[in-house]
Amino acid sequence: MATPIVLVSSPKGGVGKSTIVKNMAVCAAQAHLRVLAVDLDPQRTLALWGERRPRTEVVQVEVLPSTYDEWSQSKRRFSAASYDLVIVDTPPGVEHDVEVVKIVARDSKLVLLPTGPTSVDLDSVLPWANGLKAARISPTFLLNKTDRRRKSFRTAQRALLEVAPLAPVEIPSYEDIHIFDARGLTPLDIAKGAGTSDLETLWAFLRGQIHG
Ligand SMILES: Nc1ncnc2c1ncn2[C@@H]1O[C@H](COP(=O)(O)OP(=O)(O)OP(=O)(O)O)[C@@H](O)[C@H]1O
Ligand SMILES: [Mg+2]
Repeated sequence: MATPIVLVSSPKGGVGKSTIVKNMAVCAAQAHLRVLAVDLDPQRTLALWGERRPRTEVVQVEVLPSTYDEWSQSKRRFSAASYDLVIVDTPPGVEHDVEVVKIVARDSKLVLLPTGPTSVDLDSVLPWANGLKAARISPTFLLNKTDRRRKSFRTAQRALLEVAPLAPVEIPSYEDIHIFDARGLTPLDIAKGAGTSDLETLWAFLRGQIHG
């Protein structure tokens, strides 16, 4: 069976791609899956996090720094190594890489598009989702950094659902989500604090999708 790939993509920067990849990779490793996180972003946010990650006391997450140009070689490499799951983090700005992102997306079991709820976020992510759909790729939105009590949240949900499905859980804005970054950790490594139950629900969804 081919290794399932989850692609995390967004045209907009700072919407939480790397955060989602790190946290989902930790969930997968905690579930005893052999997971590889691939960092296609030249800024290497994910790879640096992986380098800082302690080698003991927490589950191990392998991170492969790579590039879009190396996608075919990377894919051969991780297929041969028989991982249970590969999660791909991407740089912001898809404009110069549209065709190669579509290649990675076609290789993926799930294409997750994290987005904030503001109209600026939607102006960026909706055309990207429509472009993927035009290429017969089915993306799934993930609302991140939201406040469920705000009107913008409901408005965003409605606008997104007109274009593509939404992950069944949104990730609110949590101060805790990044405070462990500098040590190569996630909130899931430390304690089951605020935010971790939503991340675990997201993981349950991802797991269902990759095995579905
Ligand atoms: N749910 C959240 N609550 C609070 N802060 C968050 C949340 N998700 C992400 N962040 C924070 O927002 C910032 C940007 O997140 P992240 O680096 O994951 O985004 P990105 O989409 O990978 O950015 P880039 O496009 O620049 O690679 C980080 O400081 C991160 O800790
Ligand atoms: Mg990033």
